[in-house]
Amino acid sequence: SEKSLKEVVGDKFLMGVALNVRQSSGMDTSALKIVKQHFNAIVAENCMKSEEIQPKEGEFHFEDADRLVQFGLDNGLTVTGHCLIWHSQLPDWFCVDDKGKNVSPEVLKQRMKTHIQTVVGRYKGKIKGWDVVNEAIVEDGSYRKSKFYEILGEEFIPLAFQYAHEADPDAELYYNDYGMDVPGRRDGVVKLVRSLKEKGLRIDAVGMQGHMGMDYPDIRQFEKSMLAFAATGVKVMITEWDMSALPTAMRSANVSDTVAFKKALNPYPEALPDSVSQVWNERMQQFFQLFEKHADIVERVTAWGVTDGDSWKNDFPIRGRKDYPLLFDRNYQPKDFVRKMIEEA
Ligand code: XIL
Repeated sequence: SEKSLKEVVGDKFLMGVALNVRQSSGMDTSALKIVKQHFNAIVAENCMKSEEIQPKEGEFHFEDADRLVQFGLDNGLTVTGHCLIWHSQLPDWFCVDDKGKNVSPEVLKQRMKTHIQTVVGRYKGKIKGWDVVNEAIVEDGSYRKSKFYEILGEEFIPLAFQYAHEADPDAELYYNDYGMDVPGRRDGVVKLVRSLKEKGLRIDAVGMQGHMGMDYPDIRQFEKSMLAFAATGVKVMITEWDMSALPTAMRSANVSDTVAFKKALNPYPEALPDSVSQVWNERMQQFFQLFEKHADIVERVTAWGVTDGDSWKNDFPIRGRKDYPLLFDRNYQPKDFVRKMIEEA
């Protein structure tokens, strides 16, 4: 039988993928075939976010999340919950009253508690771990000035971890963020993890989203952050891996062939032209090798979507603009670096 990605990394870390609603509801059978063959962990791309799961206070919509969890259980996949407390995709009602004024700290605590207990409680014993708080630290290491922070201050993070632990004492709990290569944020996250541990709270891993481009992050800075997080005594996860192949993802001048890339990608083809594809695959492989090198601290690597056609990187900021950031292309074929890894295993 055909070898698979999950077999390649089987003894190193979980190989995960984010599912959209078309996939978790069973409509995209070609994608599901890939999921079953190559991955052993799943996460919801959107359907467990607060805006989706509790759009109005007390009105919970569990259909999509239920289906995703059931698909995972039926196929022996590890399920991760994403995410409980995040300033984005947050319904309007959560932090403000009907006049748009911030609610009191007591009211917000109660709402967080109800949300977390209801959602985590529903999947108790079925979900391995939760992204409890998402994107709370900014580049200089300070707290993001979100509504949660405005109203509760730093306390909102330990509170979220406490509520999640109370709702499912066996579930793993994660802190998740992007741009983790940035030294200021790295230090801020290390400080946060230490302070949670000092308070006696459970935290099992730091999730490094891993939304990458052709010239960011710097792989050594990324590795430094992996090691810094692990040194606090938690595991590390690459939770939302993708690598934009577009020239707009090249923010620094040291990418010499920006012009060639721009030409090759205009108009946007179905698949990456060879010239671009080679650079992209090499860079993806370098990161994959980094994850494998640190298999003792890396618990899971999760791609943020199944195929290029599914990626959130498409259509932004220009409608119709295609991107090529994932491990499988629009024809459901593995990218070169993936194919090579499978063949050589
Ligand atoms: C993205 C989804 O992929 C999109 O479909 C949605 O429109 C916006 O959110 N950080 C996260 C993810 O933690 O939840 C985000 O997912 C990408 C950035």
